[in-house]
Amino acid sequence: MDIWHVRGGNRLFGSCRVQGSKNASLPILAASAVLPVRSVLRNVPRLKDVDAALKILSHLGCGIDRGENELVIDSSSFTGAEIPRELMAEMRSSVIFMGALLARCGEAKLSLPGGCQLGKRPIDLHLSALRQMGAEITEEGRDIFCRARKLHGADIDLRFPSVGATENIMLAACAADGVTTIHGAAREPEVVSLRDYLAGIGVDIRGAGSSTITINGTDRKEETEYTIPSDRIVASTLACACAAAGGRIILSGVDADHFSTVLHFLNEAGCDIINFNDIVEISSAGKLRAPGHIITAPYPGFPTDAQPILMAALLRSQGTTHITETIFENRYRQVSELRRMGGDISVSGTEAVLRGVEKLHGGTLTAPDLRGGAAMIVAGLQAEGETVVVDAGHIARGYESFDDTLCALGADVWIEHK
Ligand code: UD1
Repeated sequence: MDIWHVRGGNRLFGSCRVQGSKNASLPILAASAVLPVRSVLRNVPRLKDVDAALKILSHLGCGIDRGENELVIDSSSFTGAEIPRELMAEMRSSVIFMGALLARCGEAKLSLPGGCQLGKRPIDLHLSALRQMGAEITEEGRDIFCRARKLHGADIDLRFPSVGATENIMLAACAADGVTTIHGAAREPEVVSLRDYLAGIGVDIRGAGSSTITINGTDRKEETEYTIPSDRIVASTLACACAAAGGRIILSGVDADHFSTVLHFLNEAGCDIINFNDIVEISSAGKLRAPGHIITAPYPGFPTDAQPILMAALLRSQGTTHITETIFENRYRQVSELRRMGGDISVSGTEAVLRGVEKLHGGTLTAPDLRGGAAMIVAGLQAEGETVVVDAGHIARGYESFDDTLCALGADVWIEHK
């Protein structure tokens, strides 16, 4: 188990290249199994969730070669369509292998995925879309059996723009006869990344990034290369850390458009933000003000993953901030821990009200999930004394060498491995 120690009070200065995106990498790793190709992937972050996806690919018979800068996946040999329960339980994104396996093998045997306990997190949209494409799916307890003699294209209406369901349909549609159209698709940058990777292996996909995506067959290639874009939630976390602690940091390799809603609120809270090319500079006096009502929404709205982190950054802000969480039912799990540091937050259903306080104090906290854990680090950076975050491995699921990154910016943090 990792135990984070954070001594608050240091301002952050310096520059940092933001790691590759977790949420772009995971569906692309599943996609690498859709066709028998060799994929050369760059900028794949070293994360527990990536390791979990690689374990699944290796179990399915793919060759994996991880070098310093490249990850090569050779899926020309493929030995099975079954993913054991213990591998499925390691992360939520394992569900994306359902579409990949159906496309590759015409069958998939897996179980309900693991991941952060952010709410009910059903997969009804995934299952109903795959059924519309000709898959027969039976569920027995936590086990799911899918079979399709031949998948066919379909017109699929998503009642909610689920990121995972959109990605699963895109993968299954690679092997379907005819055109698949997704109406009400997720518009997240990670969906666009998946399209870019799939285009590299010869899949004809139009409209990714808009609400209507069409997938229109495959002209298979033998090999592709793809560079994973930067992680917009890690960039948001570092920006929030600087905003809360004070200082000036430069984030490089980022696309500011992809986390512009987070930057907007930091700017409203009093930070100076400068953006040029792939660089964003954040300056903060370390004294923020309430930035207005934060409402999470599907992209291009404010990302639910950044909500706990921005909440933590605003704990000492002047005034009252209202937050409405619209994506997950259980996304305020960080609140009880932040209150233990002196934070003044009340929650009623989807609404949270944060009243800024003068001071936060350290304490021993438990990370409830990935972003909740990151929120505690951001809170600790601005607290008096030492904050100890008992983290059951959550932060390492999404942040690569985060302790080193923060230390290089001047923070006083270290991890005790127990
Ligand atoms: C992805 C991201 C996650 C982010 C989330 C929302 C990855 C690996 N994870 O998760 O970090 O927080 O998008 O931006 O990319 N829903 C249903 N039925 C379904 C599927 C989803 O009701 O079949 C609901 C969920 O319960 C949730 C909402 O839709 O309330 C959003 O879920 P979804 O967009 O699917 O999130 P994930 O793909 O799991």
